[in-house]
Amino acid sequence: MRKKIVAGNWKMNNDLTESQSLITEVRGIIRDELRLDNVDVILFPTYFALPSCVRLLEGTGIHSGAQNCHQEKSGAFTGEVSASMVKAIGASHVIIGHSERRQYFGENNETCNSKIQAAVEQELTVLYCIGETLEERESNTHYDILKAQLIEGLNDISAQQLNNVVIAYEPVWAIGTGKTASSEQAQEIHAFLREQLTTKYGEAVAQGVRILYGGSVKPDIAKELFSQGDIDGGLIGGASLKARDFAEIVRAAQ
Ligand code: PGA
Repeated sequence: MRKKIVAGNWKMNNDLTESQSLITEVRGIIRDELRLDNVDVILFPTYFALPSCVRLLEGTGIHSGAQNCHQEKSGAFTGEVSASMVKAIGASHVIIGHSERRQYFGENNETCNSKIQAAVEQELTVLYCIGETLEERESNTHYDILKAQLIEGLNDISAQQLNNVVIAYEPVWAIGTGKTASSEQAQEIHAFLREQLTTKYGEAVAQGVRILYGGSVKPDIAKELFSQGDIDGGLIGGASLKARDFAEIVRAAQ
């Protein structure tokens, strides 16, 4: 049985004060109404709010992580933050390869691979995002694209290191558009990704990898998505900015 994950990716939203109040609100609802024994909850605020997030979530069982990191440990990379810095403030997770990073900041499978290497070396758990554009789906090249994103991103990542990697399938056409993939569409891709992992790492390892769905997940459709055999939870953008909606998605994963 794979433990489900519900992760909130806040993107470039909420200043420090707003972040602190949202974290406090989410923390309160989860403490009062939900259990965390069968679901991992992770919050990804901005770098700026991350140390505060770590502090506010201490002892709650809720995890915190960064939305990105740089592949080098330190050096002349203005504006960047390394995996070891994320680790040093007590965060446990990092998102790598989000489609917005690929689209606006020129990241590709190779950069993602270096970042994943850097993060697993720090024993951070990586949420590695992959996903096709609408154009790629319509031209039926999405399986090739997804396979390349998965396999090239995981280049030289051992089965042992894969324990610290979660895959997030996020079709670009579903992110922030209100157009969620149907549970059948998502399950089909998740099964395909697990097949690819089986070819690379063997059945036992592949069965242990958690594969999340992301892209316009809302409380009303979360349960159906999460009940699919290969969907192990969700990476939530917009709906994670509202404590109640996010909590309802966590409830759907229980
Ligand atoms: P969304 O974002 O839920 O707002 O579509 C998901 C994501 O980008 O991780």
